[in-house]
Amino acid sequence: MDKFLINGPCKIKGNVSISGSKNASLPILAATLLFDQPVILRNLPKVRDINTMFNLLKSLGSKIILSKDQKSAKIINKKNMKTFASYSLVKTMRGSILVLGPLISKYHKSKISLPGGCLIGARPVNYHLAALKKLGMIYELKDGYILAKSRGNLKGAIINFPKISVGATENSIIAACLAKGETILKNCAIEPEIKDLTNFLNKAGAKIKWSGRTCKITGVVSLSKIEYSVMADRIEAGTFCVAAALTNGNLKVKNINPRTITSEINLLKKVGAKIKIYKNEILIRGPKKIKSIRNIKTKEFPGIPTDLQAQLMVLMCKAVGKSSITENIFENRFMHVAELQRLGAKINIKNNTAKIKGKTKFIAAELMSSDLRASVALVLAAIVSNGKSCINRIYHLDRGYEKIENKLKKVGVKIKRIK
Ligand code: UD1
Repeated sequence: MDKFLINGPCKIKGNVSISGSKNASLPILAATLLFDQPVILRNLPKVRDINTMFNLLKSLGSKIILSKDQKSAKIINKKNMKTFASYSLVKTMRGSILVLGPLISKYHKSKISLPGGCLIGARPVNYHLAALKKLGMIYELKDGYILAKSRGNLKGAIINFPKISVGATENSIIAACLAKGETILKNCAIEPEIKDLTNFLNKAGAKIKWSGRTCKITGVVSLSKIEYSVMADRIEAGTFCVAAALTNGNLKVKNINPRTITSEINLLKKVGAKIKIYKNEILIRGPKKIKSIRNIKTKEFPGIPTDLQAQLMVLMCKAVGKSSITENIFENRFMHVAELQRLGAKINIKNNTAKIKGKTKFIAAELMSSDLRASVALVLAAIVSNGKSCINRIYHLDRGYEKIENKLKKVGVKIKRIK
């Protein structure tokens, strides 16, 4: 298993170009199942989760032609697609559940493995199932699988999500595109990745309109041929901005729409970073003294994303003074804490709040990755540690960060991947 060796402390300086968004690419790729016509997608990130989705689509019968750099893909569906998604494919990525909506909508049946829990919490799919049921899906759960079908086309309905869910909103939007009549989804997630999905679908002829957290979808008979470039990854951009803030660095973050990370920018300004915003770029200069913040809270967009919580915790460890971070989205997303404590962090967890004493002098150590964002937090901590850290199990990082070691090396981090 690959590991990272990082020799700290390092200062982040230079330019970094942000890759396409993994979390926008996944639902858009799932939505290609609705198409009879070819779809060309550009700006896909070269990360493992995207490969997993390619494999899933291929197993269903899609032909995928990748460009040389693997960032563009032409997807052509067969006339008779399969509708079975096996456990071995679904278990590695929960996002696989996003093929359920399009399969039911287009092919009126599907057998798909239930995604298991994962380290950050139970992560059930009950909202996905309840919403699709309202649209006409009939299902039973058997032997770890969702056995689903519909009597002909799905039918538009009014759905009020009991809790905001990114995946359930996406699955329902995709399914409703080809449903008969009008669907109204209330209390939707409005993450930029979801807006990217609906831009993509509308460009292909879908009829989707937004008004706050309400999404109105008027069903169409089919979608047309389309070429689409996926949005940039706001979590990768946020992670690099935190890295610059953390190291008193000076970084130009290129290829990012700053409006997708407004709360993050405001928070980093509060800690003392100097930030300049351009159309597709951000310049960030980290402060000499990082100011602590008392009550950081993760929230659905437009709030602070849970996917940046672990990285912000490393920043607060280095801040002057006490701070706290409350995790409101996932029940158990503090796995990075024990590893950060091994580096010297002073963090106390009570329920879903972490209280952090600042001014930590991190000392390098051997570390273990546990999930995607926890792993990147360990990379950040290693960058500001004194000495050589070794981070094990970095396959978690490869799920969602494109060649992170190359990008970090380019901006001044002494990092090496060893096999
Ligand atoms: C997506 C993102 C993930 C991000 C998360 C929250 C992708 C591929 N993943 O995950 O990176 O951290 O949004 O911004 O885009 N829930 C239920 N029942 C359901 C669905 C969700 O109880 O049927 C709960 C979850 O356990 C969680 C909360 O709702 O506590 C939000 O989850 P959700 O927004 O659905 O996250 P994902 O779509 O899985």
